[in-house]
Amino acid sequence: MERKKIAGIIDIITVDDAATIRALAADERVDRDFKFRPLYNGFILKRVLRALSYKGAHFPHMTTKEDAIRKEHHDSLWEQFNANVSAMANGPDELEPLAKWIRQETTEQEAGVLVQQIIGRFFSADFKATPDSWQAALILHEAAGSKNLPKMLWWRLTGKVQYAKKLLGVVTNDNLLAIHGIAVAAHNLVATAGRLKSFYADESLRKTLTPETAVEQSLSAPPVVYRQALADGAAAGCPYSKSTLFLLKLQDANRNHQAKDMIFMTGTWSRCPAEQWIPAVIAGTWKRAIGT
Ligand code: HEM
Repeated sequence: MERKKIAGIIDIITVDDAATIRALAADERVDRDFKFRPLYNGFILKRVLRALSYKGAHFPHMTTKEDAIRKEHHDSLWEQFNANVSAMANGPDELEPLAKWIRQETTEQEAGVLVQQIIGRFFSADFKATPDSWQAALILHEAAGSKNLPKMLWWRLTGKVQYAKKLLGVVTNDNLLAIHGIAVAAHNLVATAGRLKSFYADESLRKTLTPETAVEQSLSAPPVVYRQALADGAAAGCPYSKSTLFLLKLQDANRNHQAKDMIFMTGTWSRCPAEQWIPAVIAGTWKRAIGT
């Protein structure tokens, strides 16, 4: 854990241990009700929220705990994903293009479009991912995390991020949850697909890795999620002040697969609604890749 604090200017705590992250996730005074203070916290939050919002609405993973629409979406998405788990785990035809990519039987360089297609199709049978929709996802991803100020200023002046969002809106019929899926969550599944590809390239792993172990070995948590303190407090021996911004480094907290609950924030109010669906997609894709 590391705290950077200069009164009135910056107050940021970076947390990379699972026990403290769990304590903060359970703490009522720690939420995603973001306020742009103090100065540098505000600068970071404005940049992140500018990227991670659509038509004035924050993406669900940047929305406050008690937001009624977030809660409703969270519950309904959870049910819809879970209803599709066993179908995915059996490795349906729609997973074949990604399985082919893992077997290196396609000219496609990146898994991005293929992953977007799997996620987007969950929201609409008509969904069609394209190199442009994947490019738009990469732009959003970079805009939310980049420290390259001149480049980001240029992107603002040229409307690059706005244009990317417009395109994502067109391909999803303005469905905020689908945009979140294909432009934010997709990056996690792309990273997983890259690992499956290298497992497949190793002949002994290809022969021995079961779908369950492939899931376990390939999944990783998002690098960082954001929280802010609503009031002064302390959690797991970590004191904080009102407006302290928390950068929760979930991926680092799950080093050596020691804290698997970090992957989807399992057991907390913000748990990923796809926490069973994604492992089923991975298991089904691996089954198809190895031909079982
Ligand atoms: C490998 C794939 C994925 C991983 C590792 C992952 C991980 C996570 C994590 C850690 C959170 C909690 C964020 C926080 O606490 O602030 C989250 C939230 C969320 N995820 Fe995922 N996710 C994945 C795929 C997906 C997909 C495909 C969707 C589809 C739309 C999705 C939708 C969501 C939503 C809507 C939330 C916000 C939940 C809320 O707070 O209301 N995720 N995800």
